[in-house]
Amino acid sequence: MYINFWYPMATSEELTDKPLQVKALGQDMVLWRGEDGVAKCVSNTCTHRGGSLAHGKIAGDCIQCPYHGWEFDAEGHCQRIPSLGPNPKIPSRTRIDAYPVDERHGIVFAFLGDLPEEDRPPIIDVKEWGQEGWTSTLQTYTINCNYERSIENGLDPAHNEFVHDTHGFQGENEEYKIGDMRIEQSSDWGQGFWHTFQAPKLPDEAEFKDARKDDGDLEAGTGYHGPSQVWTYIHMSKTNWMHQYLLERPIDEYHSAVYLLCMRNCYTDEKYDDNVVERNGYVAQQDVVIVEKLHPMLTPDTNTKEFMLPADKCILLYRESMKEWENNGWKIDIDAVAASGQKVAYAIPSPGRREQKGWVLDEIPLVQPSDEETADLAAG
Ligand code: FES
Ligand SMILES: [Fe+2]
Repeated sequence: MYINFWYPMATSEELTDKPLQVKALGQDMVLWRGEDGVAKCVSNTCTHRGGSLAHGKIAGDCIQCPYHGWEFDAEGHCQRIPSLGPNPKIPSRTRIDAYPVDERHGIVFAFLGDLPEEDRPPIIDVKEWGQEGWTSTLQTYTINCNYERSIENGLDPAHNEFVHDTHGFQGENEEYKIGDMRIEQSSDWGQGFWHTFQAPKLPDEAEFKDARKDDGDLEAGTGYHGPSQVWTYIHMSKTNWMHQYLLERPIDEYHSAVYLLCMRNCYTDEKYDDNVVERNGYVAQQDVVIVEKLHPMLTPDTNTKEFMLPADKCILLYRESMKEWENNGWKIDIDAVAASGQKVAYAIPSPGRREQKGWVLDEIPLVQPSDEETADLAAG
């Protein structure tokens, strides 16, 4: 799991003026919608003696700890310590981490890291959003698997044939072969590929039957953006397109929250929304059944512990990018976190840590790039 990326924390609908506890990267956060209508996100651990802020309440611009009533504003500054009486001087060290928030596409994202604004990798670009002729659906679910396994499943063209009866032949097609994968860099934060594949004709009664090309060929592209966002573009014909965005939040190493944003430029009438959601849910569940049973649950440390094929090309590129982000010092050291057991409350470092020294909670341990890797980087 990596700090310094944007993660989906809640749907806009879910977020109210009541505290909402959300786990991300193994740590608890609390979100709420302020009186100004803007989403807020802070670390859930009270710096006094560890109260769970999500179980307190919102008091004006602040969230109040249920234990002794300390109040923290959305920047993380402690504004009130009731036991000190009126107008005390409040030490700056009482501050909790507060995270930048961005709400778009019906999703509340938080930037979980300490990079200054100009250096932050952006949220995946949903180009179709707000464009004439496009409409969207959003659905969410959780998977009991490591998010990397789920993202890699999204980058894998070869599983469609076996896992999805909606767009594969379950191995019945003797001629089956993954065709050319046309790799392209899709953003500064990821790569992707396009390919043509065959899919069974849709049954006559299928709602979207007419969207497909007659010869059964589909044009599809997919790629990653950062560690936990995937785009999948399915071009059913030259003009009928479905562009999906799979946005994941690692809850911890073994659970992932998925936000599936599906943009489409055909069957745009609202009456088709339920149908789209149902079909996407059906396909997603077929993936869930597979990825929840992968062994081991976490991606092996080296690629030699799996036998990769040409169709796994994009997955290998994804793993290379992850290595780069690890070399940036952004990867959480899950072994170090686990070793501290229930003894240490960690915080994902927030941008505030760059402007202020002295914090109560320890920053979460990060994997330090090895000397060899640092030397490689220096050599360019
Ligand atoms: S633990 Fe939060 S106010 Fe005491
Ligand atoms: Fe799939």
